[in-house]
Amino acid sequence: MIDLMTDRTHDEAKQGEAYAPFNGDPNQYRKRFYIESYGCQMNFSDSEIVASILNKEGFGATRHAEEADLIFINTCSIREKAEQTVRKRLTEFRKLKEEKKGMLVGVLGCMAERLKSKFLEEEKLVDIVVGPDAYRSLPTLVDEAEGGQKAVNVLLSRDETYADISPVRLDSNGVSAFVSIMRGCNNMCSFCVVPFTRGRERSRDAESIINECKDLFERGYSEVTLLGQNVDSYSLPLPPSQGRGTEQFFTFAMLLEKIAQIAPELRVRFSTSHPKDITDDVLHTMAKYENICKYIHLPVQSGSTKILQLMNRTYTREWYMAKVDRIRKIMPDCGISSDIIAGFCTEDEQDHQDTLSIMEYSRYDMSYMFVYSERPGTLAERRFKDDVPEEVKKRRLVEIVELQNRLSLESNRKDIGKTFKILIEGDSKRSDKDWMGRNSQNKVVVFAKEDYQLKKGDYVNVKVEDCTQATLLGKIIN
Ligand code: 5AD
Ligand code: SF4
Repeated sequence: MIDLMTDRTHDEAKQGEAYAPFNGDPNQYRKRFYIESYGCQMNFSDSEIVASILNKEGFGATRHAEEADLIFINTCSIREKAEQTVRKRLTEFRKLKEEKKGMLVGVLGCMAERLKSKFLEEEKLVDIVVGPDAYRSLPTLVDEAEGGQKAVNVLLSRDETYADISPVRLDSNGVSAFVSIMRGCNNMCSFCVVPFTRGRERSRDAESIINECKDLFERGYSEVTLLGQNVDSYSLPLPPSQGRGTEQFFTFAMLLEKIAQIAPELRVRFSTSHPKDITDDVLHTMAKYENICKYIHLPVQSGSTKILQLMNRTYTREWYMAKVDRIRKIMPDCGISSDIIAGFCTEDEQDHQDTLSIMEYSRYDMSYMFVYSERPGTLAERRFKDDVPEEVKKRRLVEIVELQNRLSLESNRKDIGKTFKILIEGDSKRSDKDWMGRNSQNKVVVFAKEDYQLKKGDYVNVKVEDCTQATLLGKIIN
């Protein structure tokens, strides 16, 4: 299914069941909650903040919805399909609610923000509605809902970053963790609902980010992924005495460097970059540190300057291509991936061909590919007609997916014979005799464990011997 061309980043199809394990006594908690996350990594990361807030109030997480007193669903509004998935899930929770008296259901995240109290009226199945900036009020809202009141908080904030909250790592492999560095988005891409659901951009205090990363490393994690809707616009004012040259701001490049310096064995990744904002400073910092992964998610959205303008992306086709050149010049071995939308308003065959040709030019290792889905309240919904017929959108998406499949295979074939340093994430999906890990470029590599005494979180050199379109297959090199 084409719409499932997504993985860890924007995946409303894959439901994330999250849990924090009990430590010993099952009766240590006054109530149990179950939380399920949809959408982007930011949502998964937010669920870990929610779990931390609830834990402090004496609530313990459970893996099993039927055991829970509170069910939370952390939702995504990015495409209509994402919202449909959530609605379906809510009707499934209805059954549990009927069976277990007093069970409460809460909607968190972007859909909560978008639909606000409408949720309580429309969907009689929901007791609590909380937007992305209001999670600190969850315990109070739970109390209110238990008392039979309508519990809604969808206030957006200009400064909430949850900087002081130490996330409870849910469903973690113990190797890799997400660290939120900023929230919100000021870009106003015309197709996107995020500026409305997640509010204004704000950067999290640098010290709290660095401390969280240090703490993760000390607890045995080997990789952190710095998260933000637009990480390159991370910026904090510096006291005048600390400015570097004329620079009076603590930038994303500076943050990246500080985190890379925590330990050479701690891998650093980040997502997402906006092509207009990623600086040479960031690219040079990436090149300087071996442990900053050579991988950039650089969404193009469309290859046509006309469409990019309507999307309010603020760059042209040529400008984007020059950015790709710059990345390849500074880091010839850098992996690049993209997000692509097929069938945006007024897109004609030439615009579509421009998208295909920019994909060829950029030689993406991987892409997340979507048909355009009009979202209520966005600039595009207000200004333009959603005029590309559904079957044309789908046909164009098929062509985009087929091209990406070829590009991914070509990119993987080029790696045959090369040796990469792999961070082991766990057993491969197919067999516990094989390890699965990633190289710096974020490619998945599968290889036999053989008799080596290795474990999750170890680094190992692997020589690639074969590949599929999605995976490199290799052998451990001594
Ligand atoms: N329709 C289709 N895809 C969208 N995206 C964002 N909004 C829409 C929409 N209305 C895609 C973009 C973005 C990714 C997270 O989701 O490609 O980069
Ligand atoms: Fe994440 Fe965007 Fe979906 Fe919100 S709408 S969950 S920010 S992908």
